[in-house]
Amino acid sequence: MPETSVLVVDDEESVATTIQAILQLDGHEVVAVTTGAEAIRILGERQFDVVLTDLRLTDVDGVEVLKEVQRTAPETAAIMLTGYASLESAIAALRSGAYDYLMKPSDVEELRATVNRAIERRMLRRRLVELEEVDRLKTQFLSMASHELRTPLTAVMGFIQVARRRLVRASDKQGATDWKEEATRAAETLELAQRQSRRLARLVDELLDVSRLQLGRVQMTRSEIDLVTSLREVVERLRLLNTTHAFEFSDHAKTAPVLADRDRIDQVFENLMNNAVKYSPGGGTVTVVVAREGDDVHVSVTDRGIGISPEELDQVFNLFYRSPDPRAGHVGGLGLGLYISREIVTRHGGKLWAESAGEGSTFHVTLPLAAPAAKAGAVKDPAGARRA
Ligand SMILES: Nc1ncnc2c1ncn2[C@@H]1O[C@H](COP(=O)(O)OP(=O)(O)OP(=O)(O)O)[C@@H](O)[C@H]1O
Ligand SMILES: [Mg+2]
Repeated sequence: MPETSVLVVDDEESVATTIQAILQLDGHEVVAVTTGAEAIRILGERQFDVVLTDLRLTDVDGVEVLKEVQRTAPETAAIMLTGYASLESAIAALRSGAYDYLMKPSDVEELRATVNRAIERRMLRRRLVELEEVDRLKTQFLSMASHELRTPLTAVMGFIQVARRRLVRASDKQGATDWKEEATRAAETLELAQRQSRRLARLVDELLDVSRLQLGRVQMTRSEIDLVTSLREVVERLRLLNTTHAFEFSDHAKTAPVLADRDRIDQVFENLMNNAVKYSPGGGTVTVVVAREGDDVHVSVTDRGIGISPEELDQVFNLFYRSPDPRAGHVGGLGLGLYISREIVTRHGGKLWAESAGEGSTFHVTLPLAAPAAKAGAVKDPAGARRA
């Protein structure tokens, strides 16, 4: 269990420190204070899992502390400490949302049991919130995925229908040139259908990748490759496919041997460069830089696009994550690319992270350079093997 935090508020210092000592023995982090004012000040600064407060403090009513807990951290469980005389106010506190109360002087076992119960409930609530978020993401993902798959599928069906009609018409035609012209146009339409099916296949592959990665069933076949050469080829490929953006490639190292699964590593850089294009709707140059840094090779992919806000810099690597930024909304995507890329890089012993200063973003990848003695060969992905 992770360390849990408890705030104890009692104006009798001996009571506060005794409770503190008992709960510390159970492994909790305990802060003890003797005034309501001090408690309210601390609650403004940080959160606790449980707050134990005396109902009758010299400076303020314990209910004020309870209110502050509810205002600053509604998930925190508040337990009221009370004497027999103020049982009624304890019940009133329960009505206004306190989790429980303890009669003073309280029995050690009862104190521990009450606090542990409160903590357990707190953990369950936290887990519930997490699961609700996962559930929300899954629902959102399902609707997005069906839309993303439906779009190319509709296009494929439409193009095939058009091509078919053209071929039927061509077979009715008498003249050789007329026939040829219709057939050529049918072939062009089929090419469009083919392009859309490729997009469809890519989406399905990404979905399969995610489930395989999560099950630890991705086998990486590593051999020594030169990252500079393979990057240059990926850049060339993207140059041919994207006429709207310019690609700049600077190699500060002639070669960079790494022990890697070439297809998987290409996939990472294709993802990063595709994102660079997708998220810079105004065009601009995509810059790819590769350099050696100590025992690593460092690659950066920089665009001049919409950028990423500081709080999203790490979130973008989460599964299904898509930015709420309306400027990112116009392009399709499932929020899988960066998740998959980070998994692949991590399994190669490297790192992948993002940087952005408002305008434009840079994605950095580091991979360990192959040791000179490293032998080429198929190695089962160790991380995957451990998980499987
Ligand atoms: N270069 C970039 N500039 C700005 N935002 C980016 C960039 N790359 C990624 N993002 C943000 O991170 C999110 C996640 O990216 P990711 O590549 O994982 O998914 P995607 O591009 O939305 O879909 P796909 O699964 O097709 O790759 C994007 O939706 C976008 O909001
Ligand atoms: Mg992407």
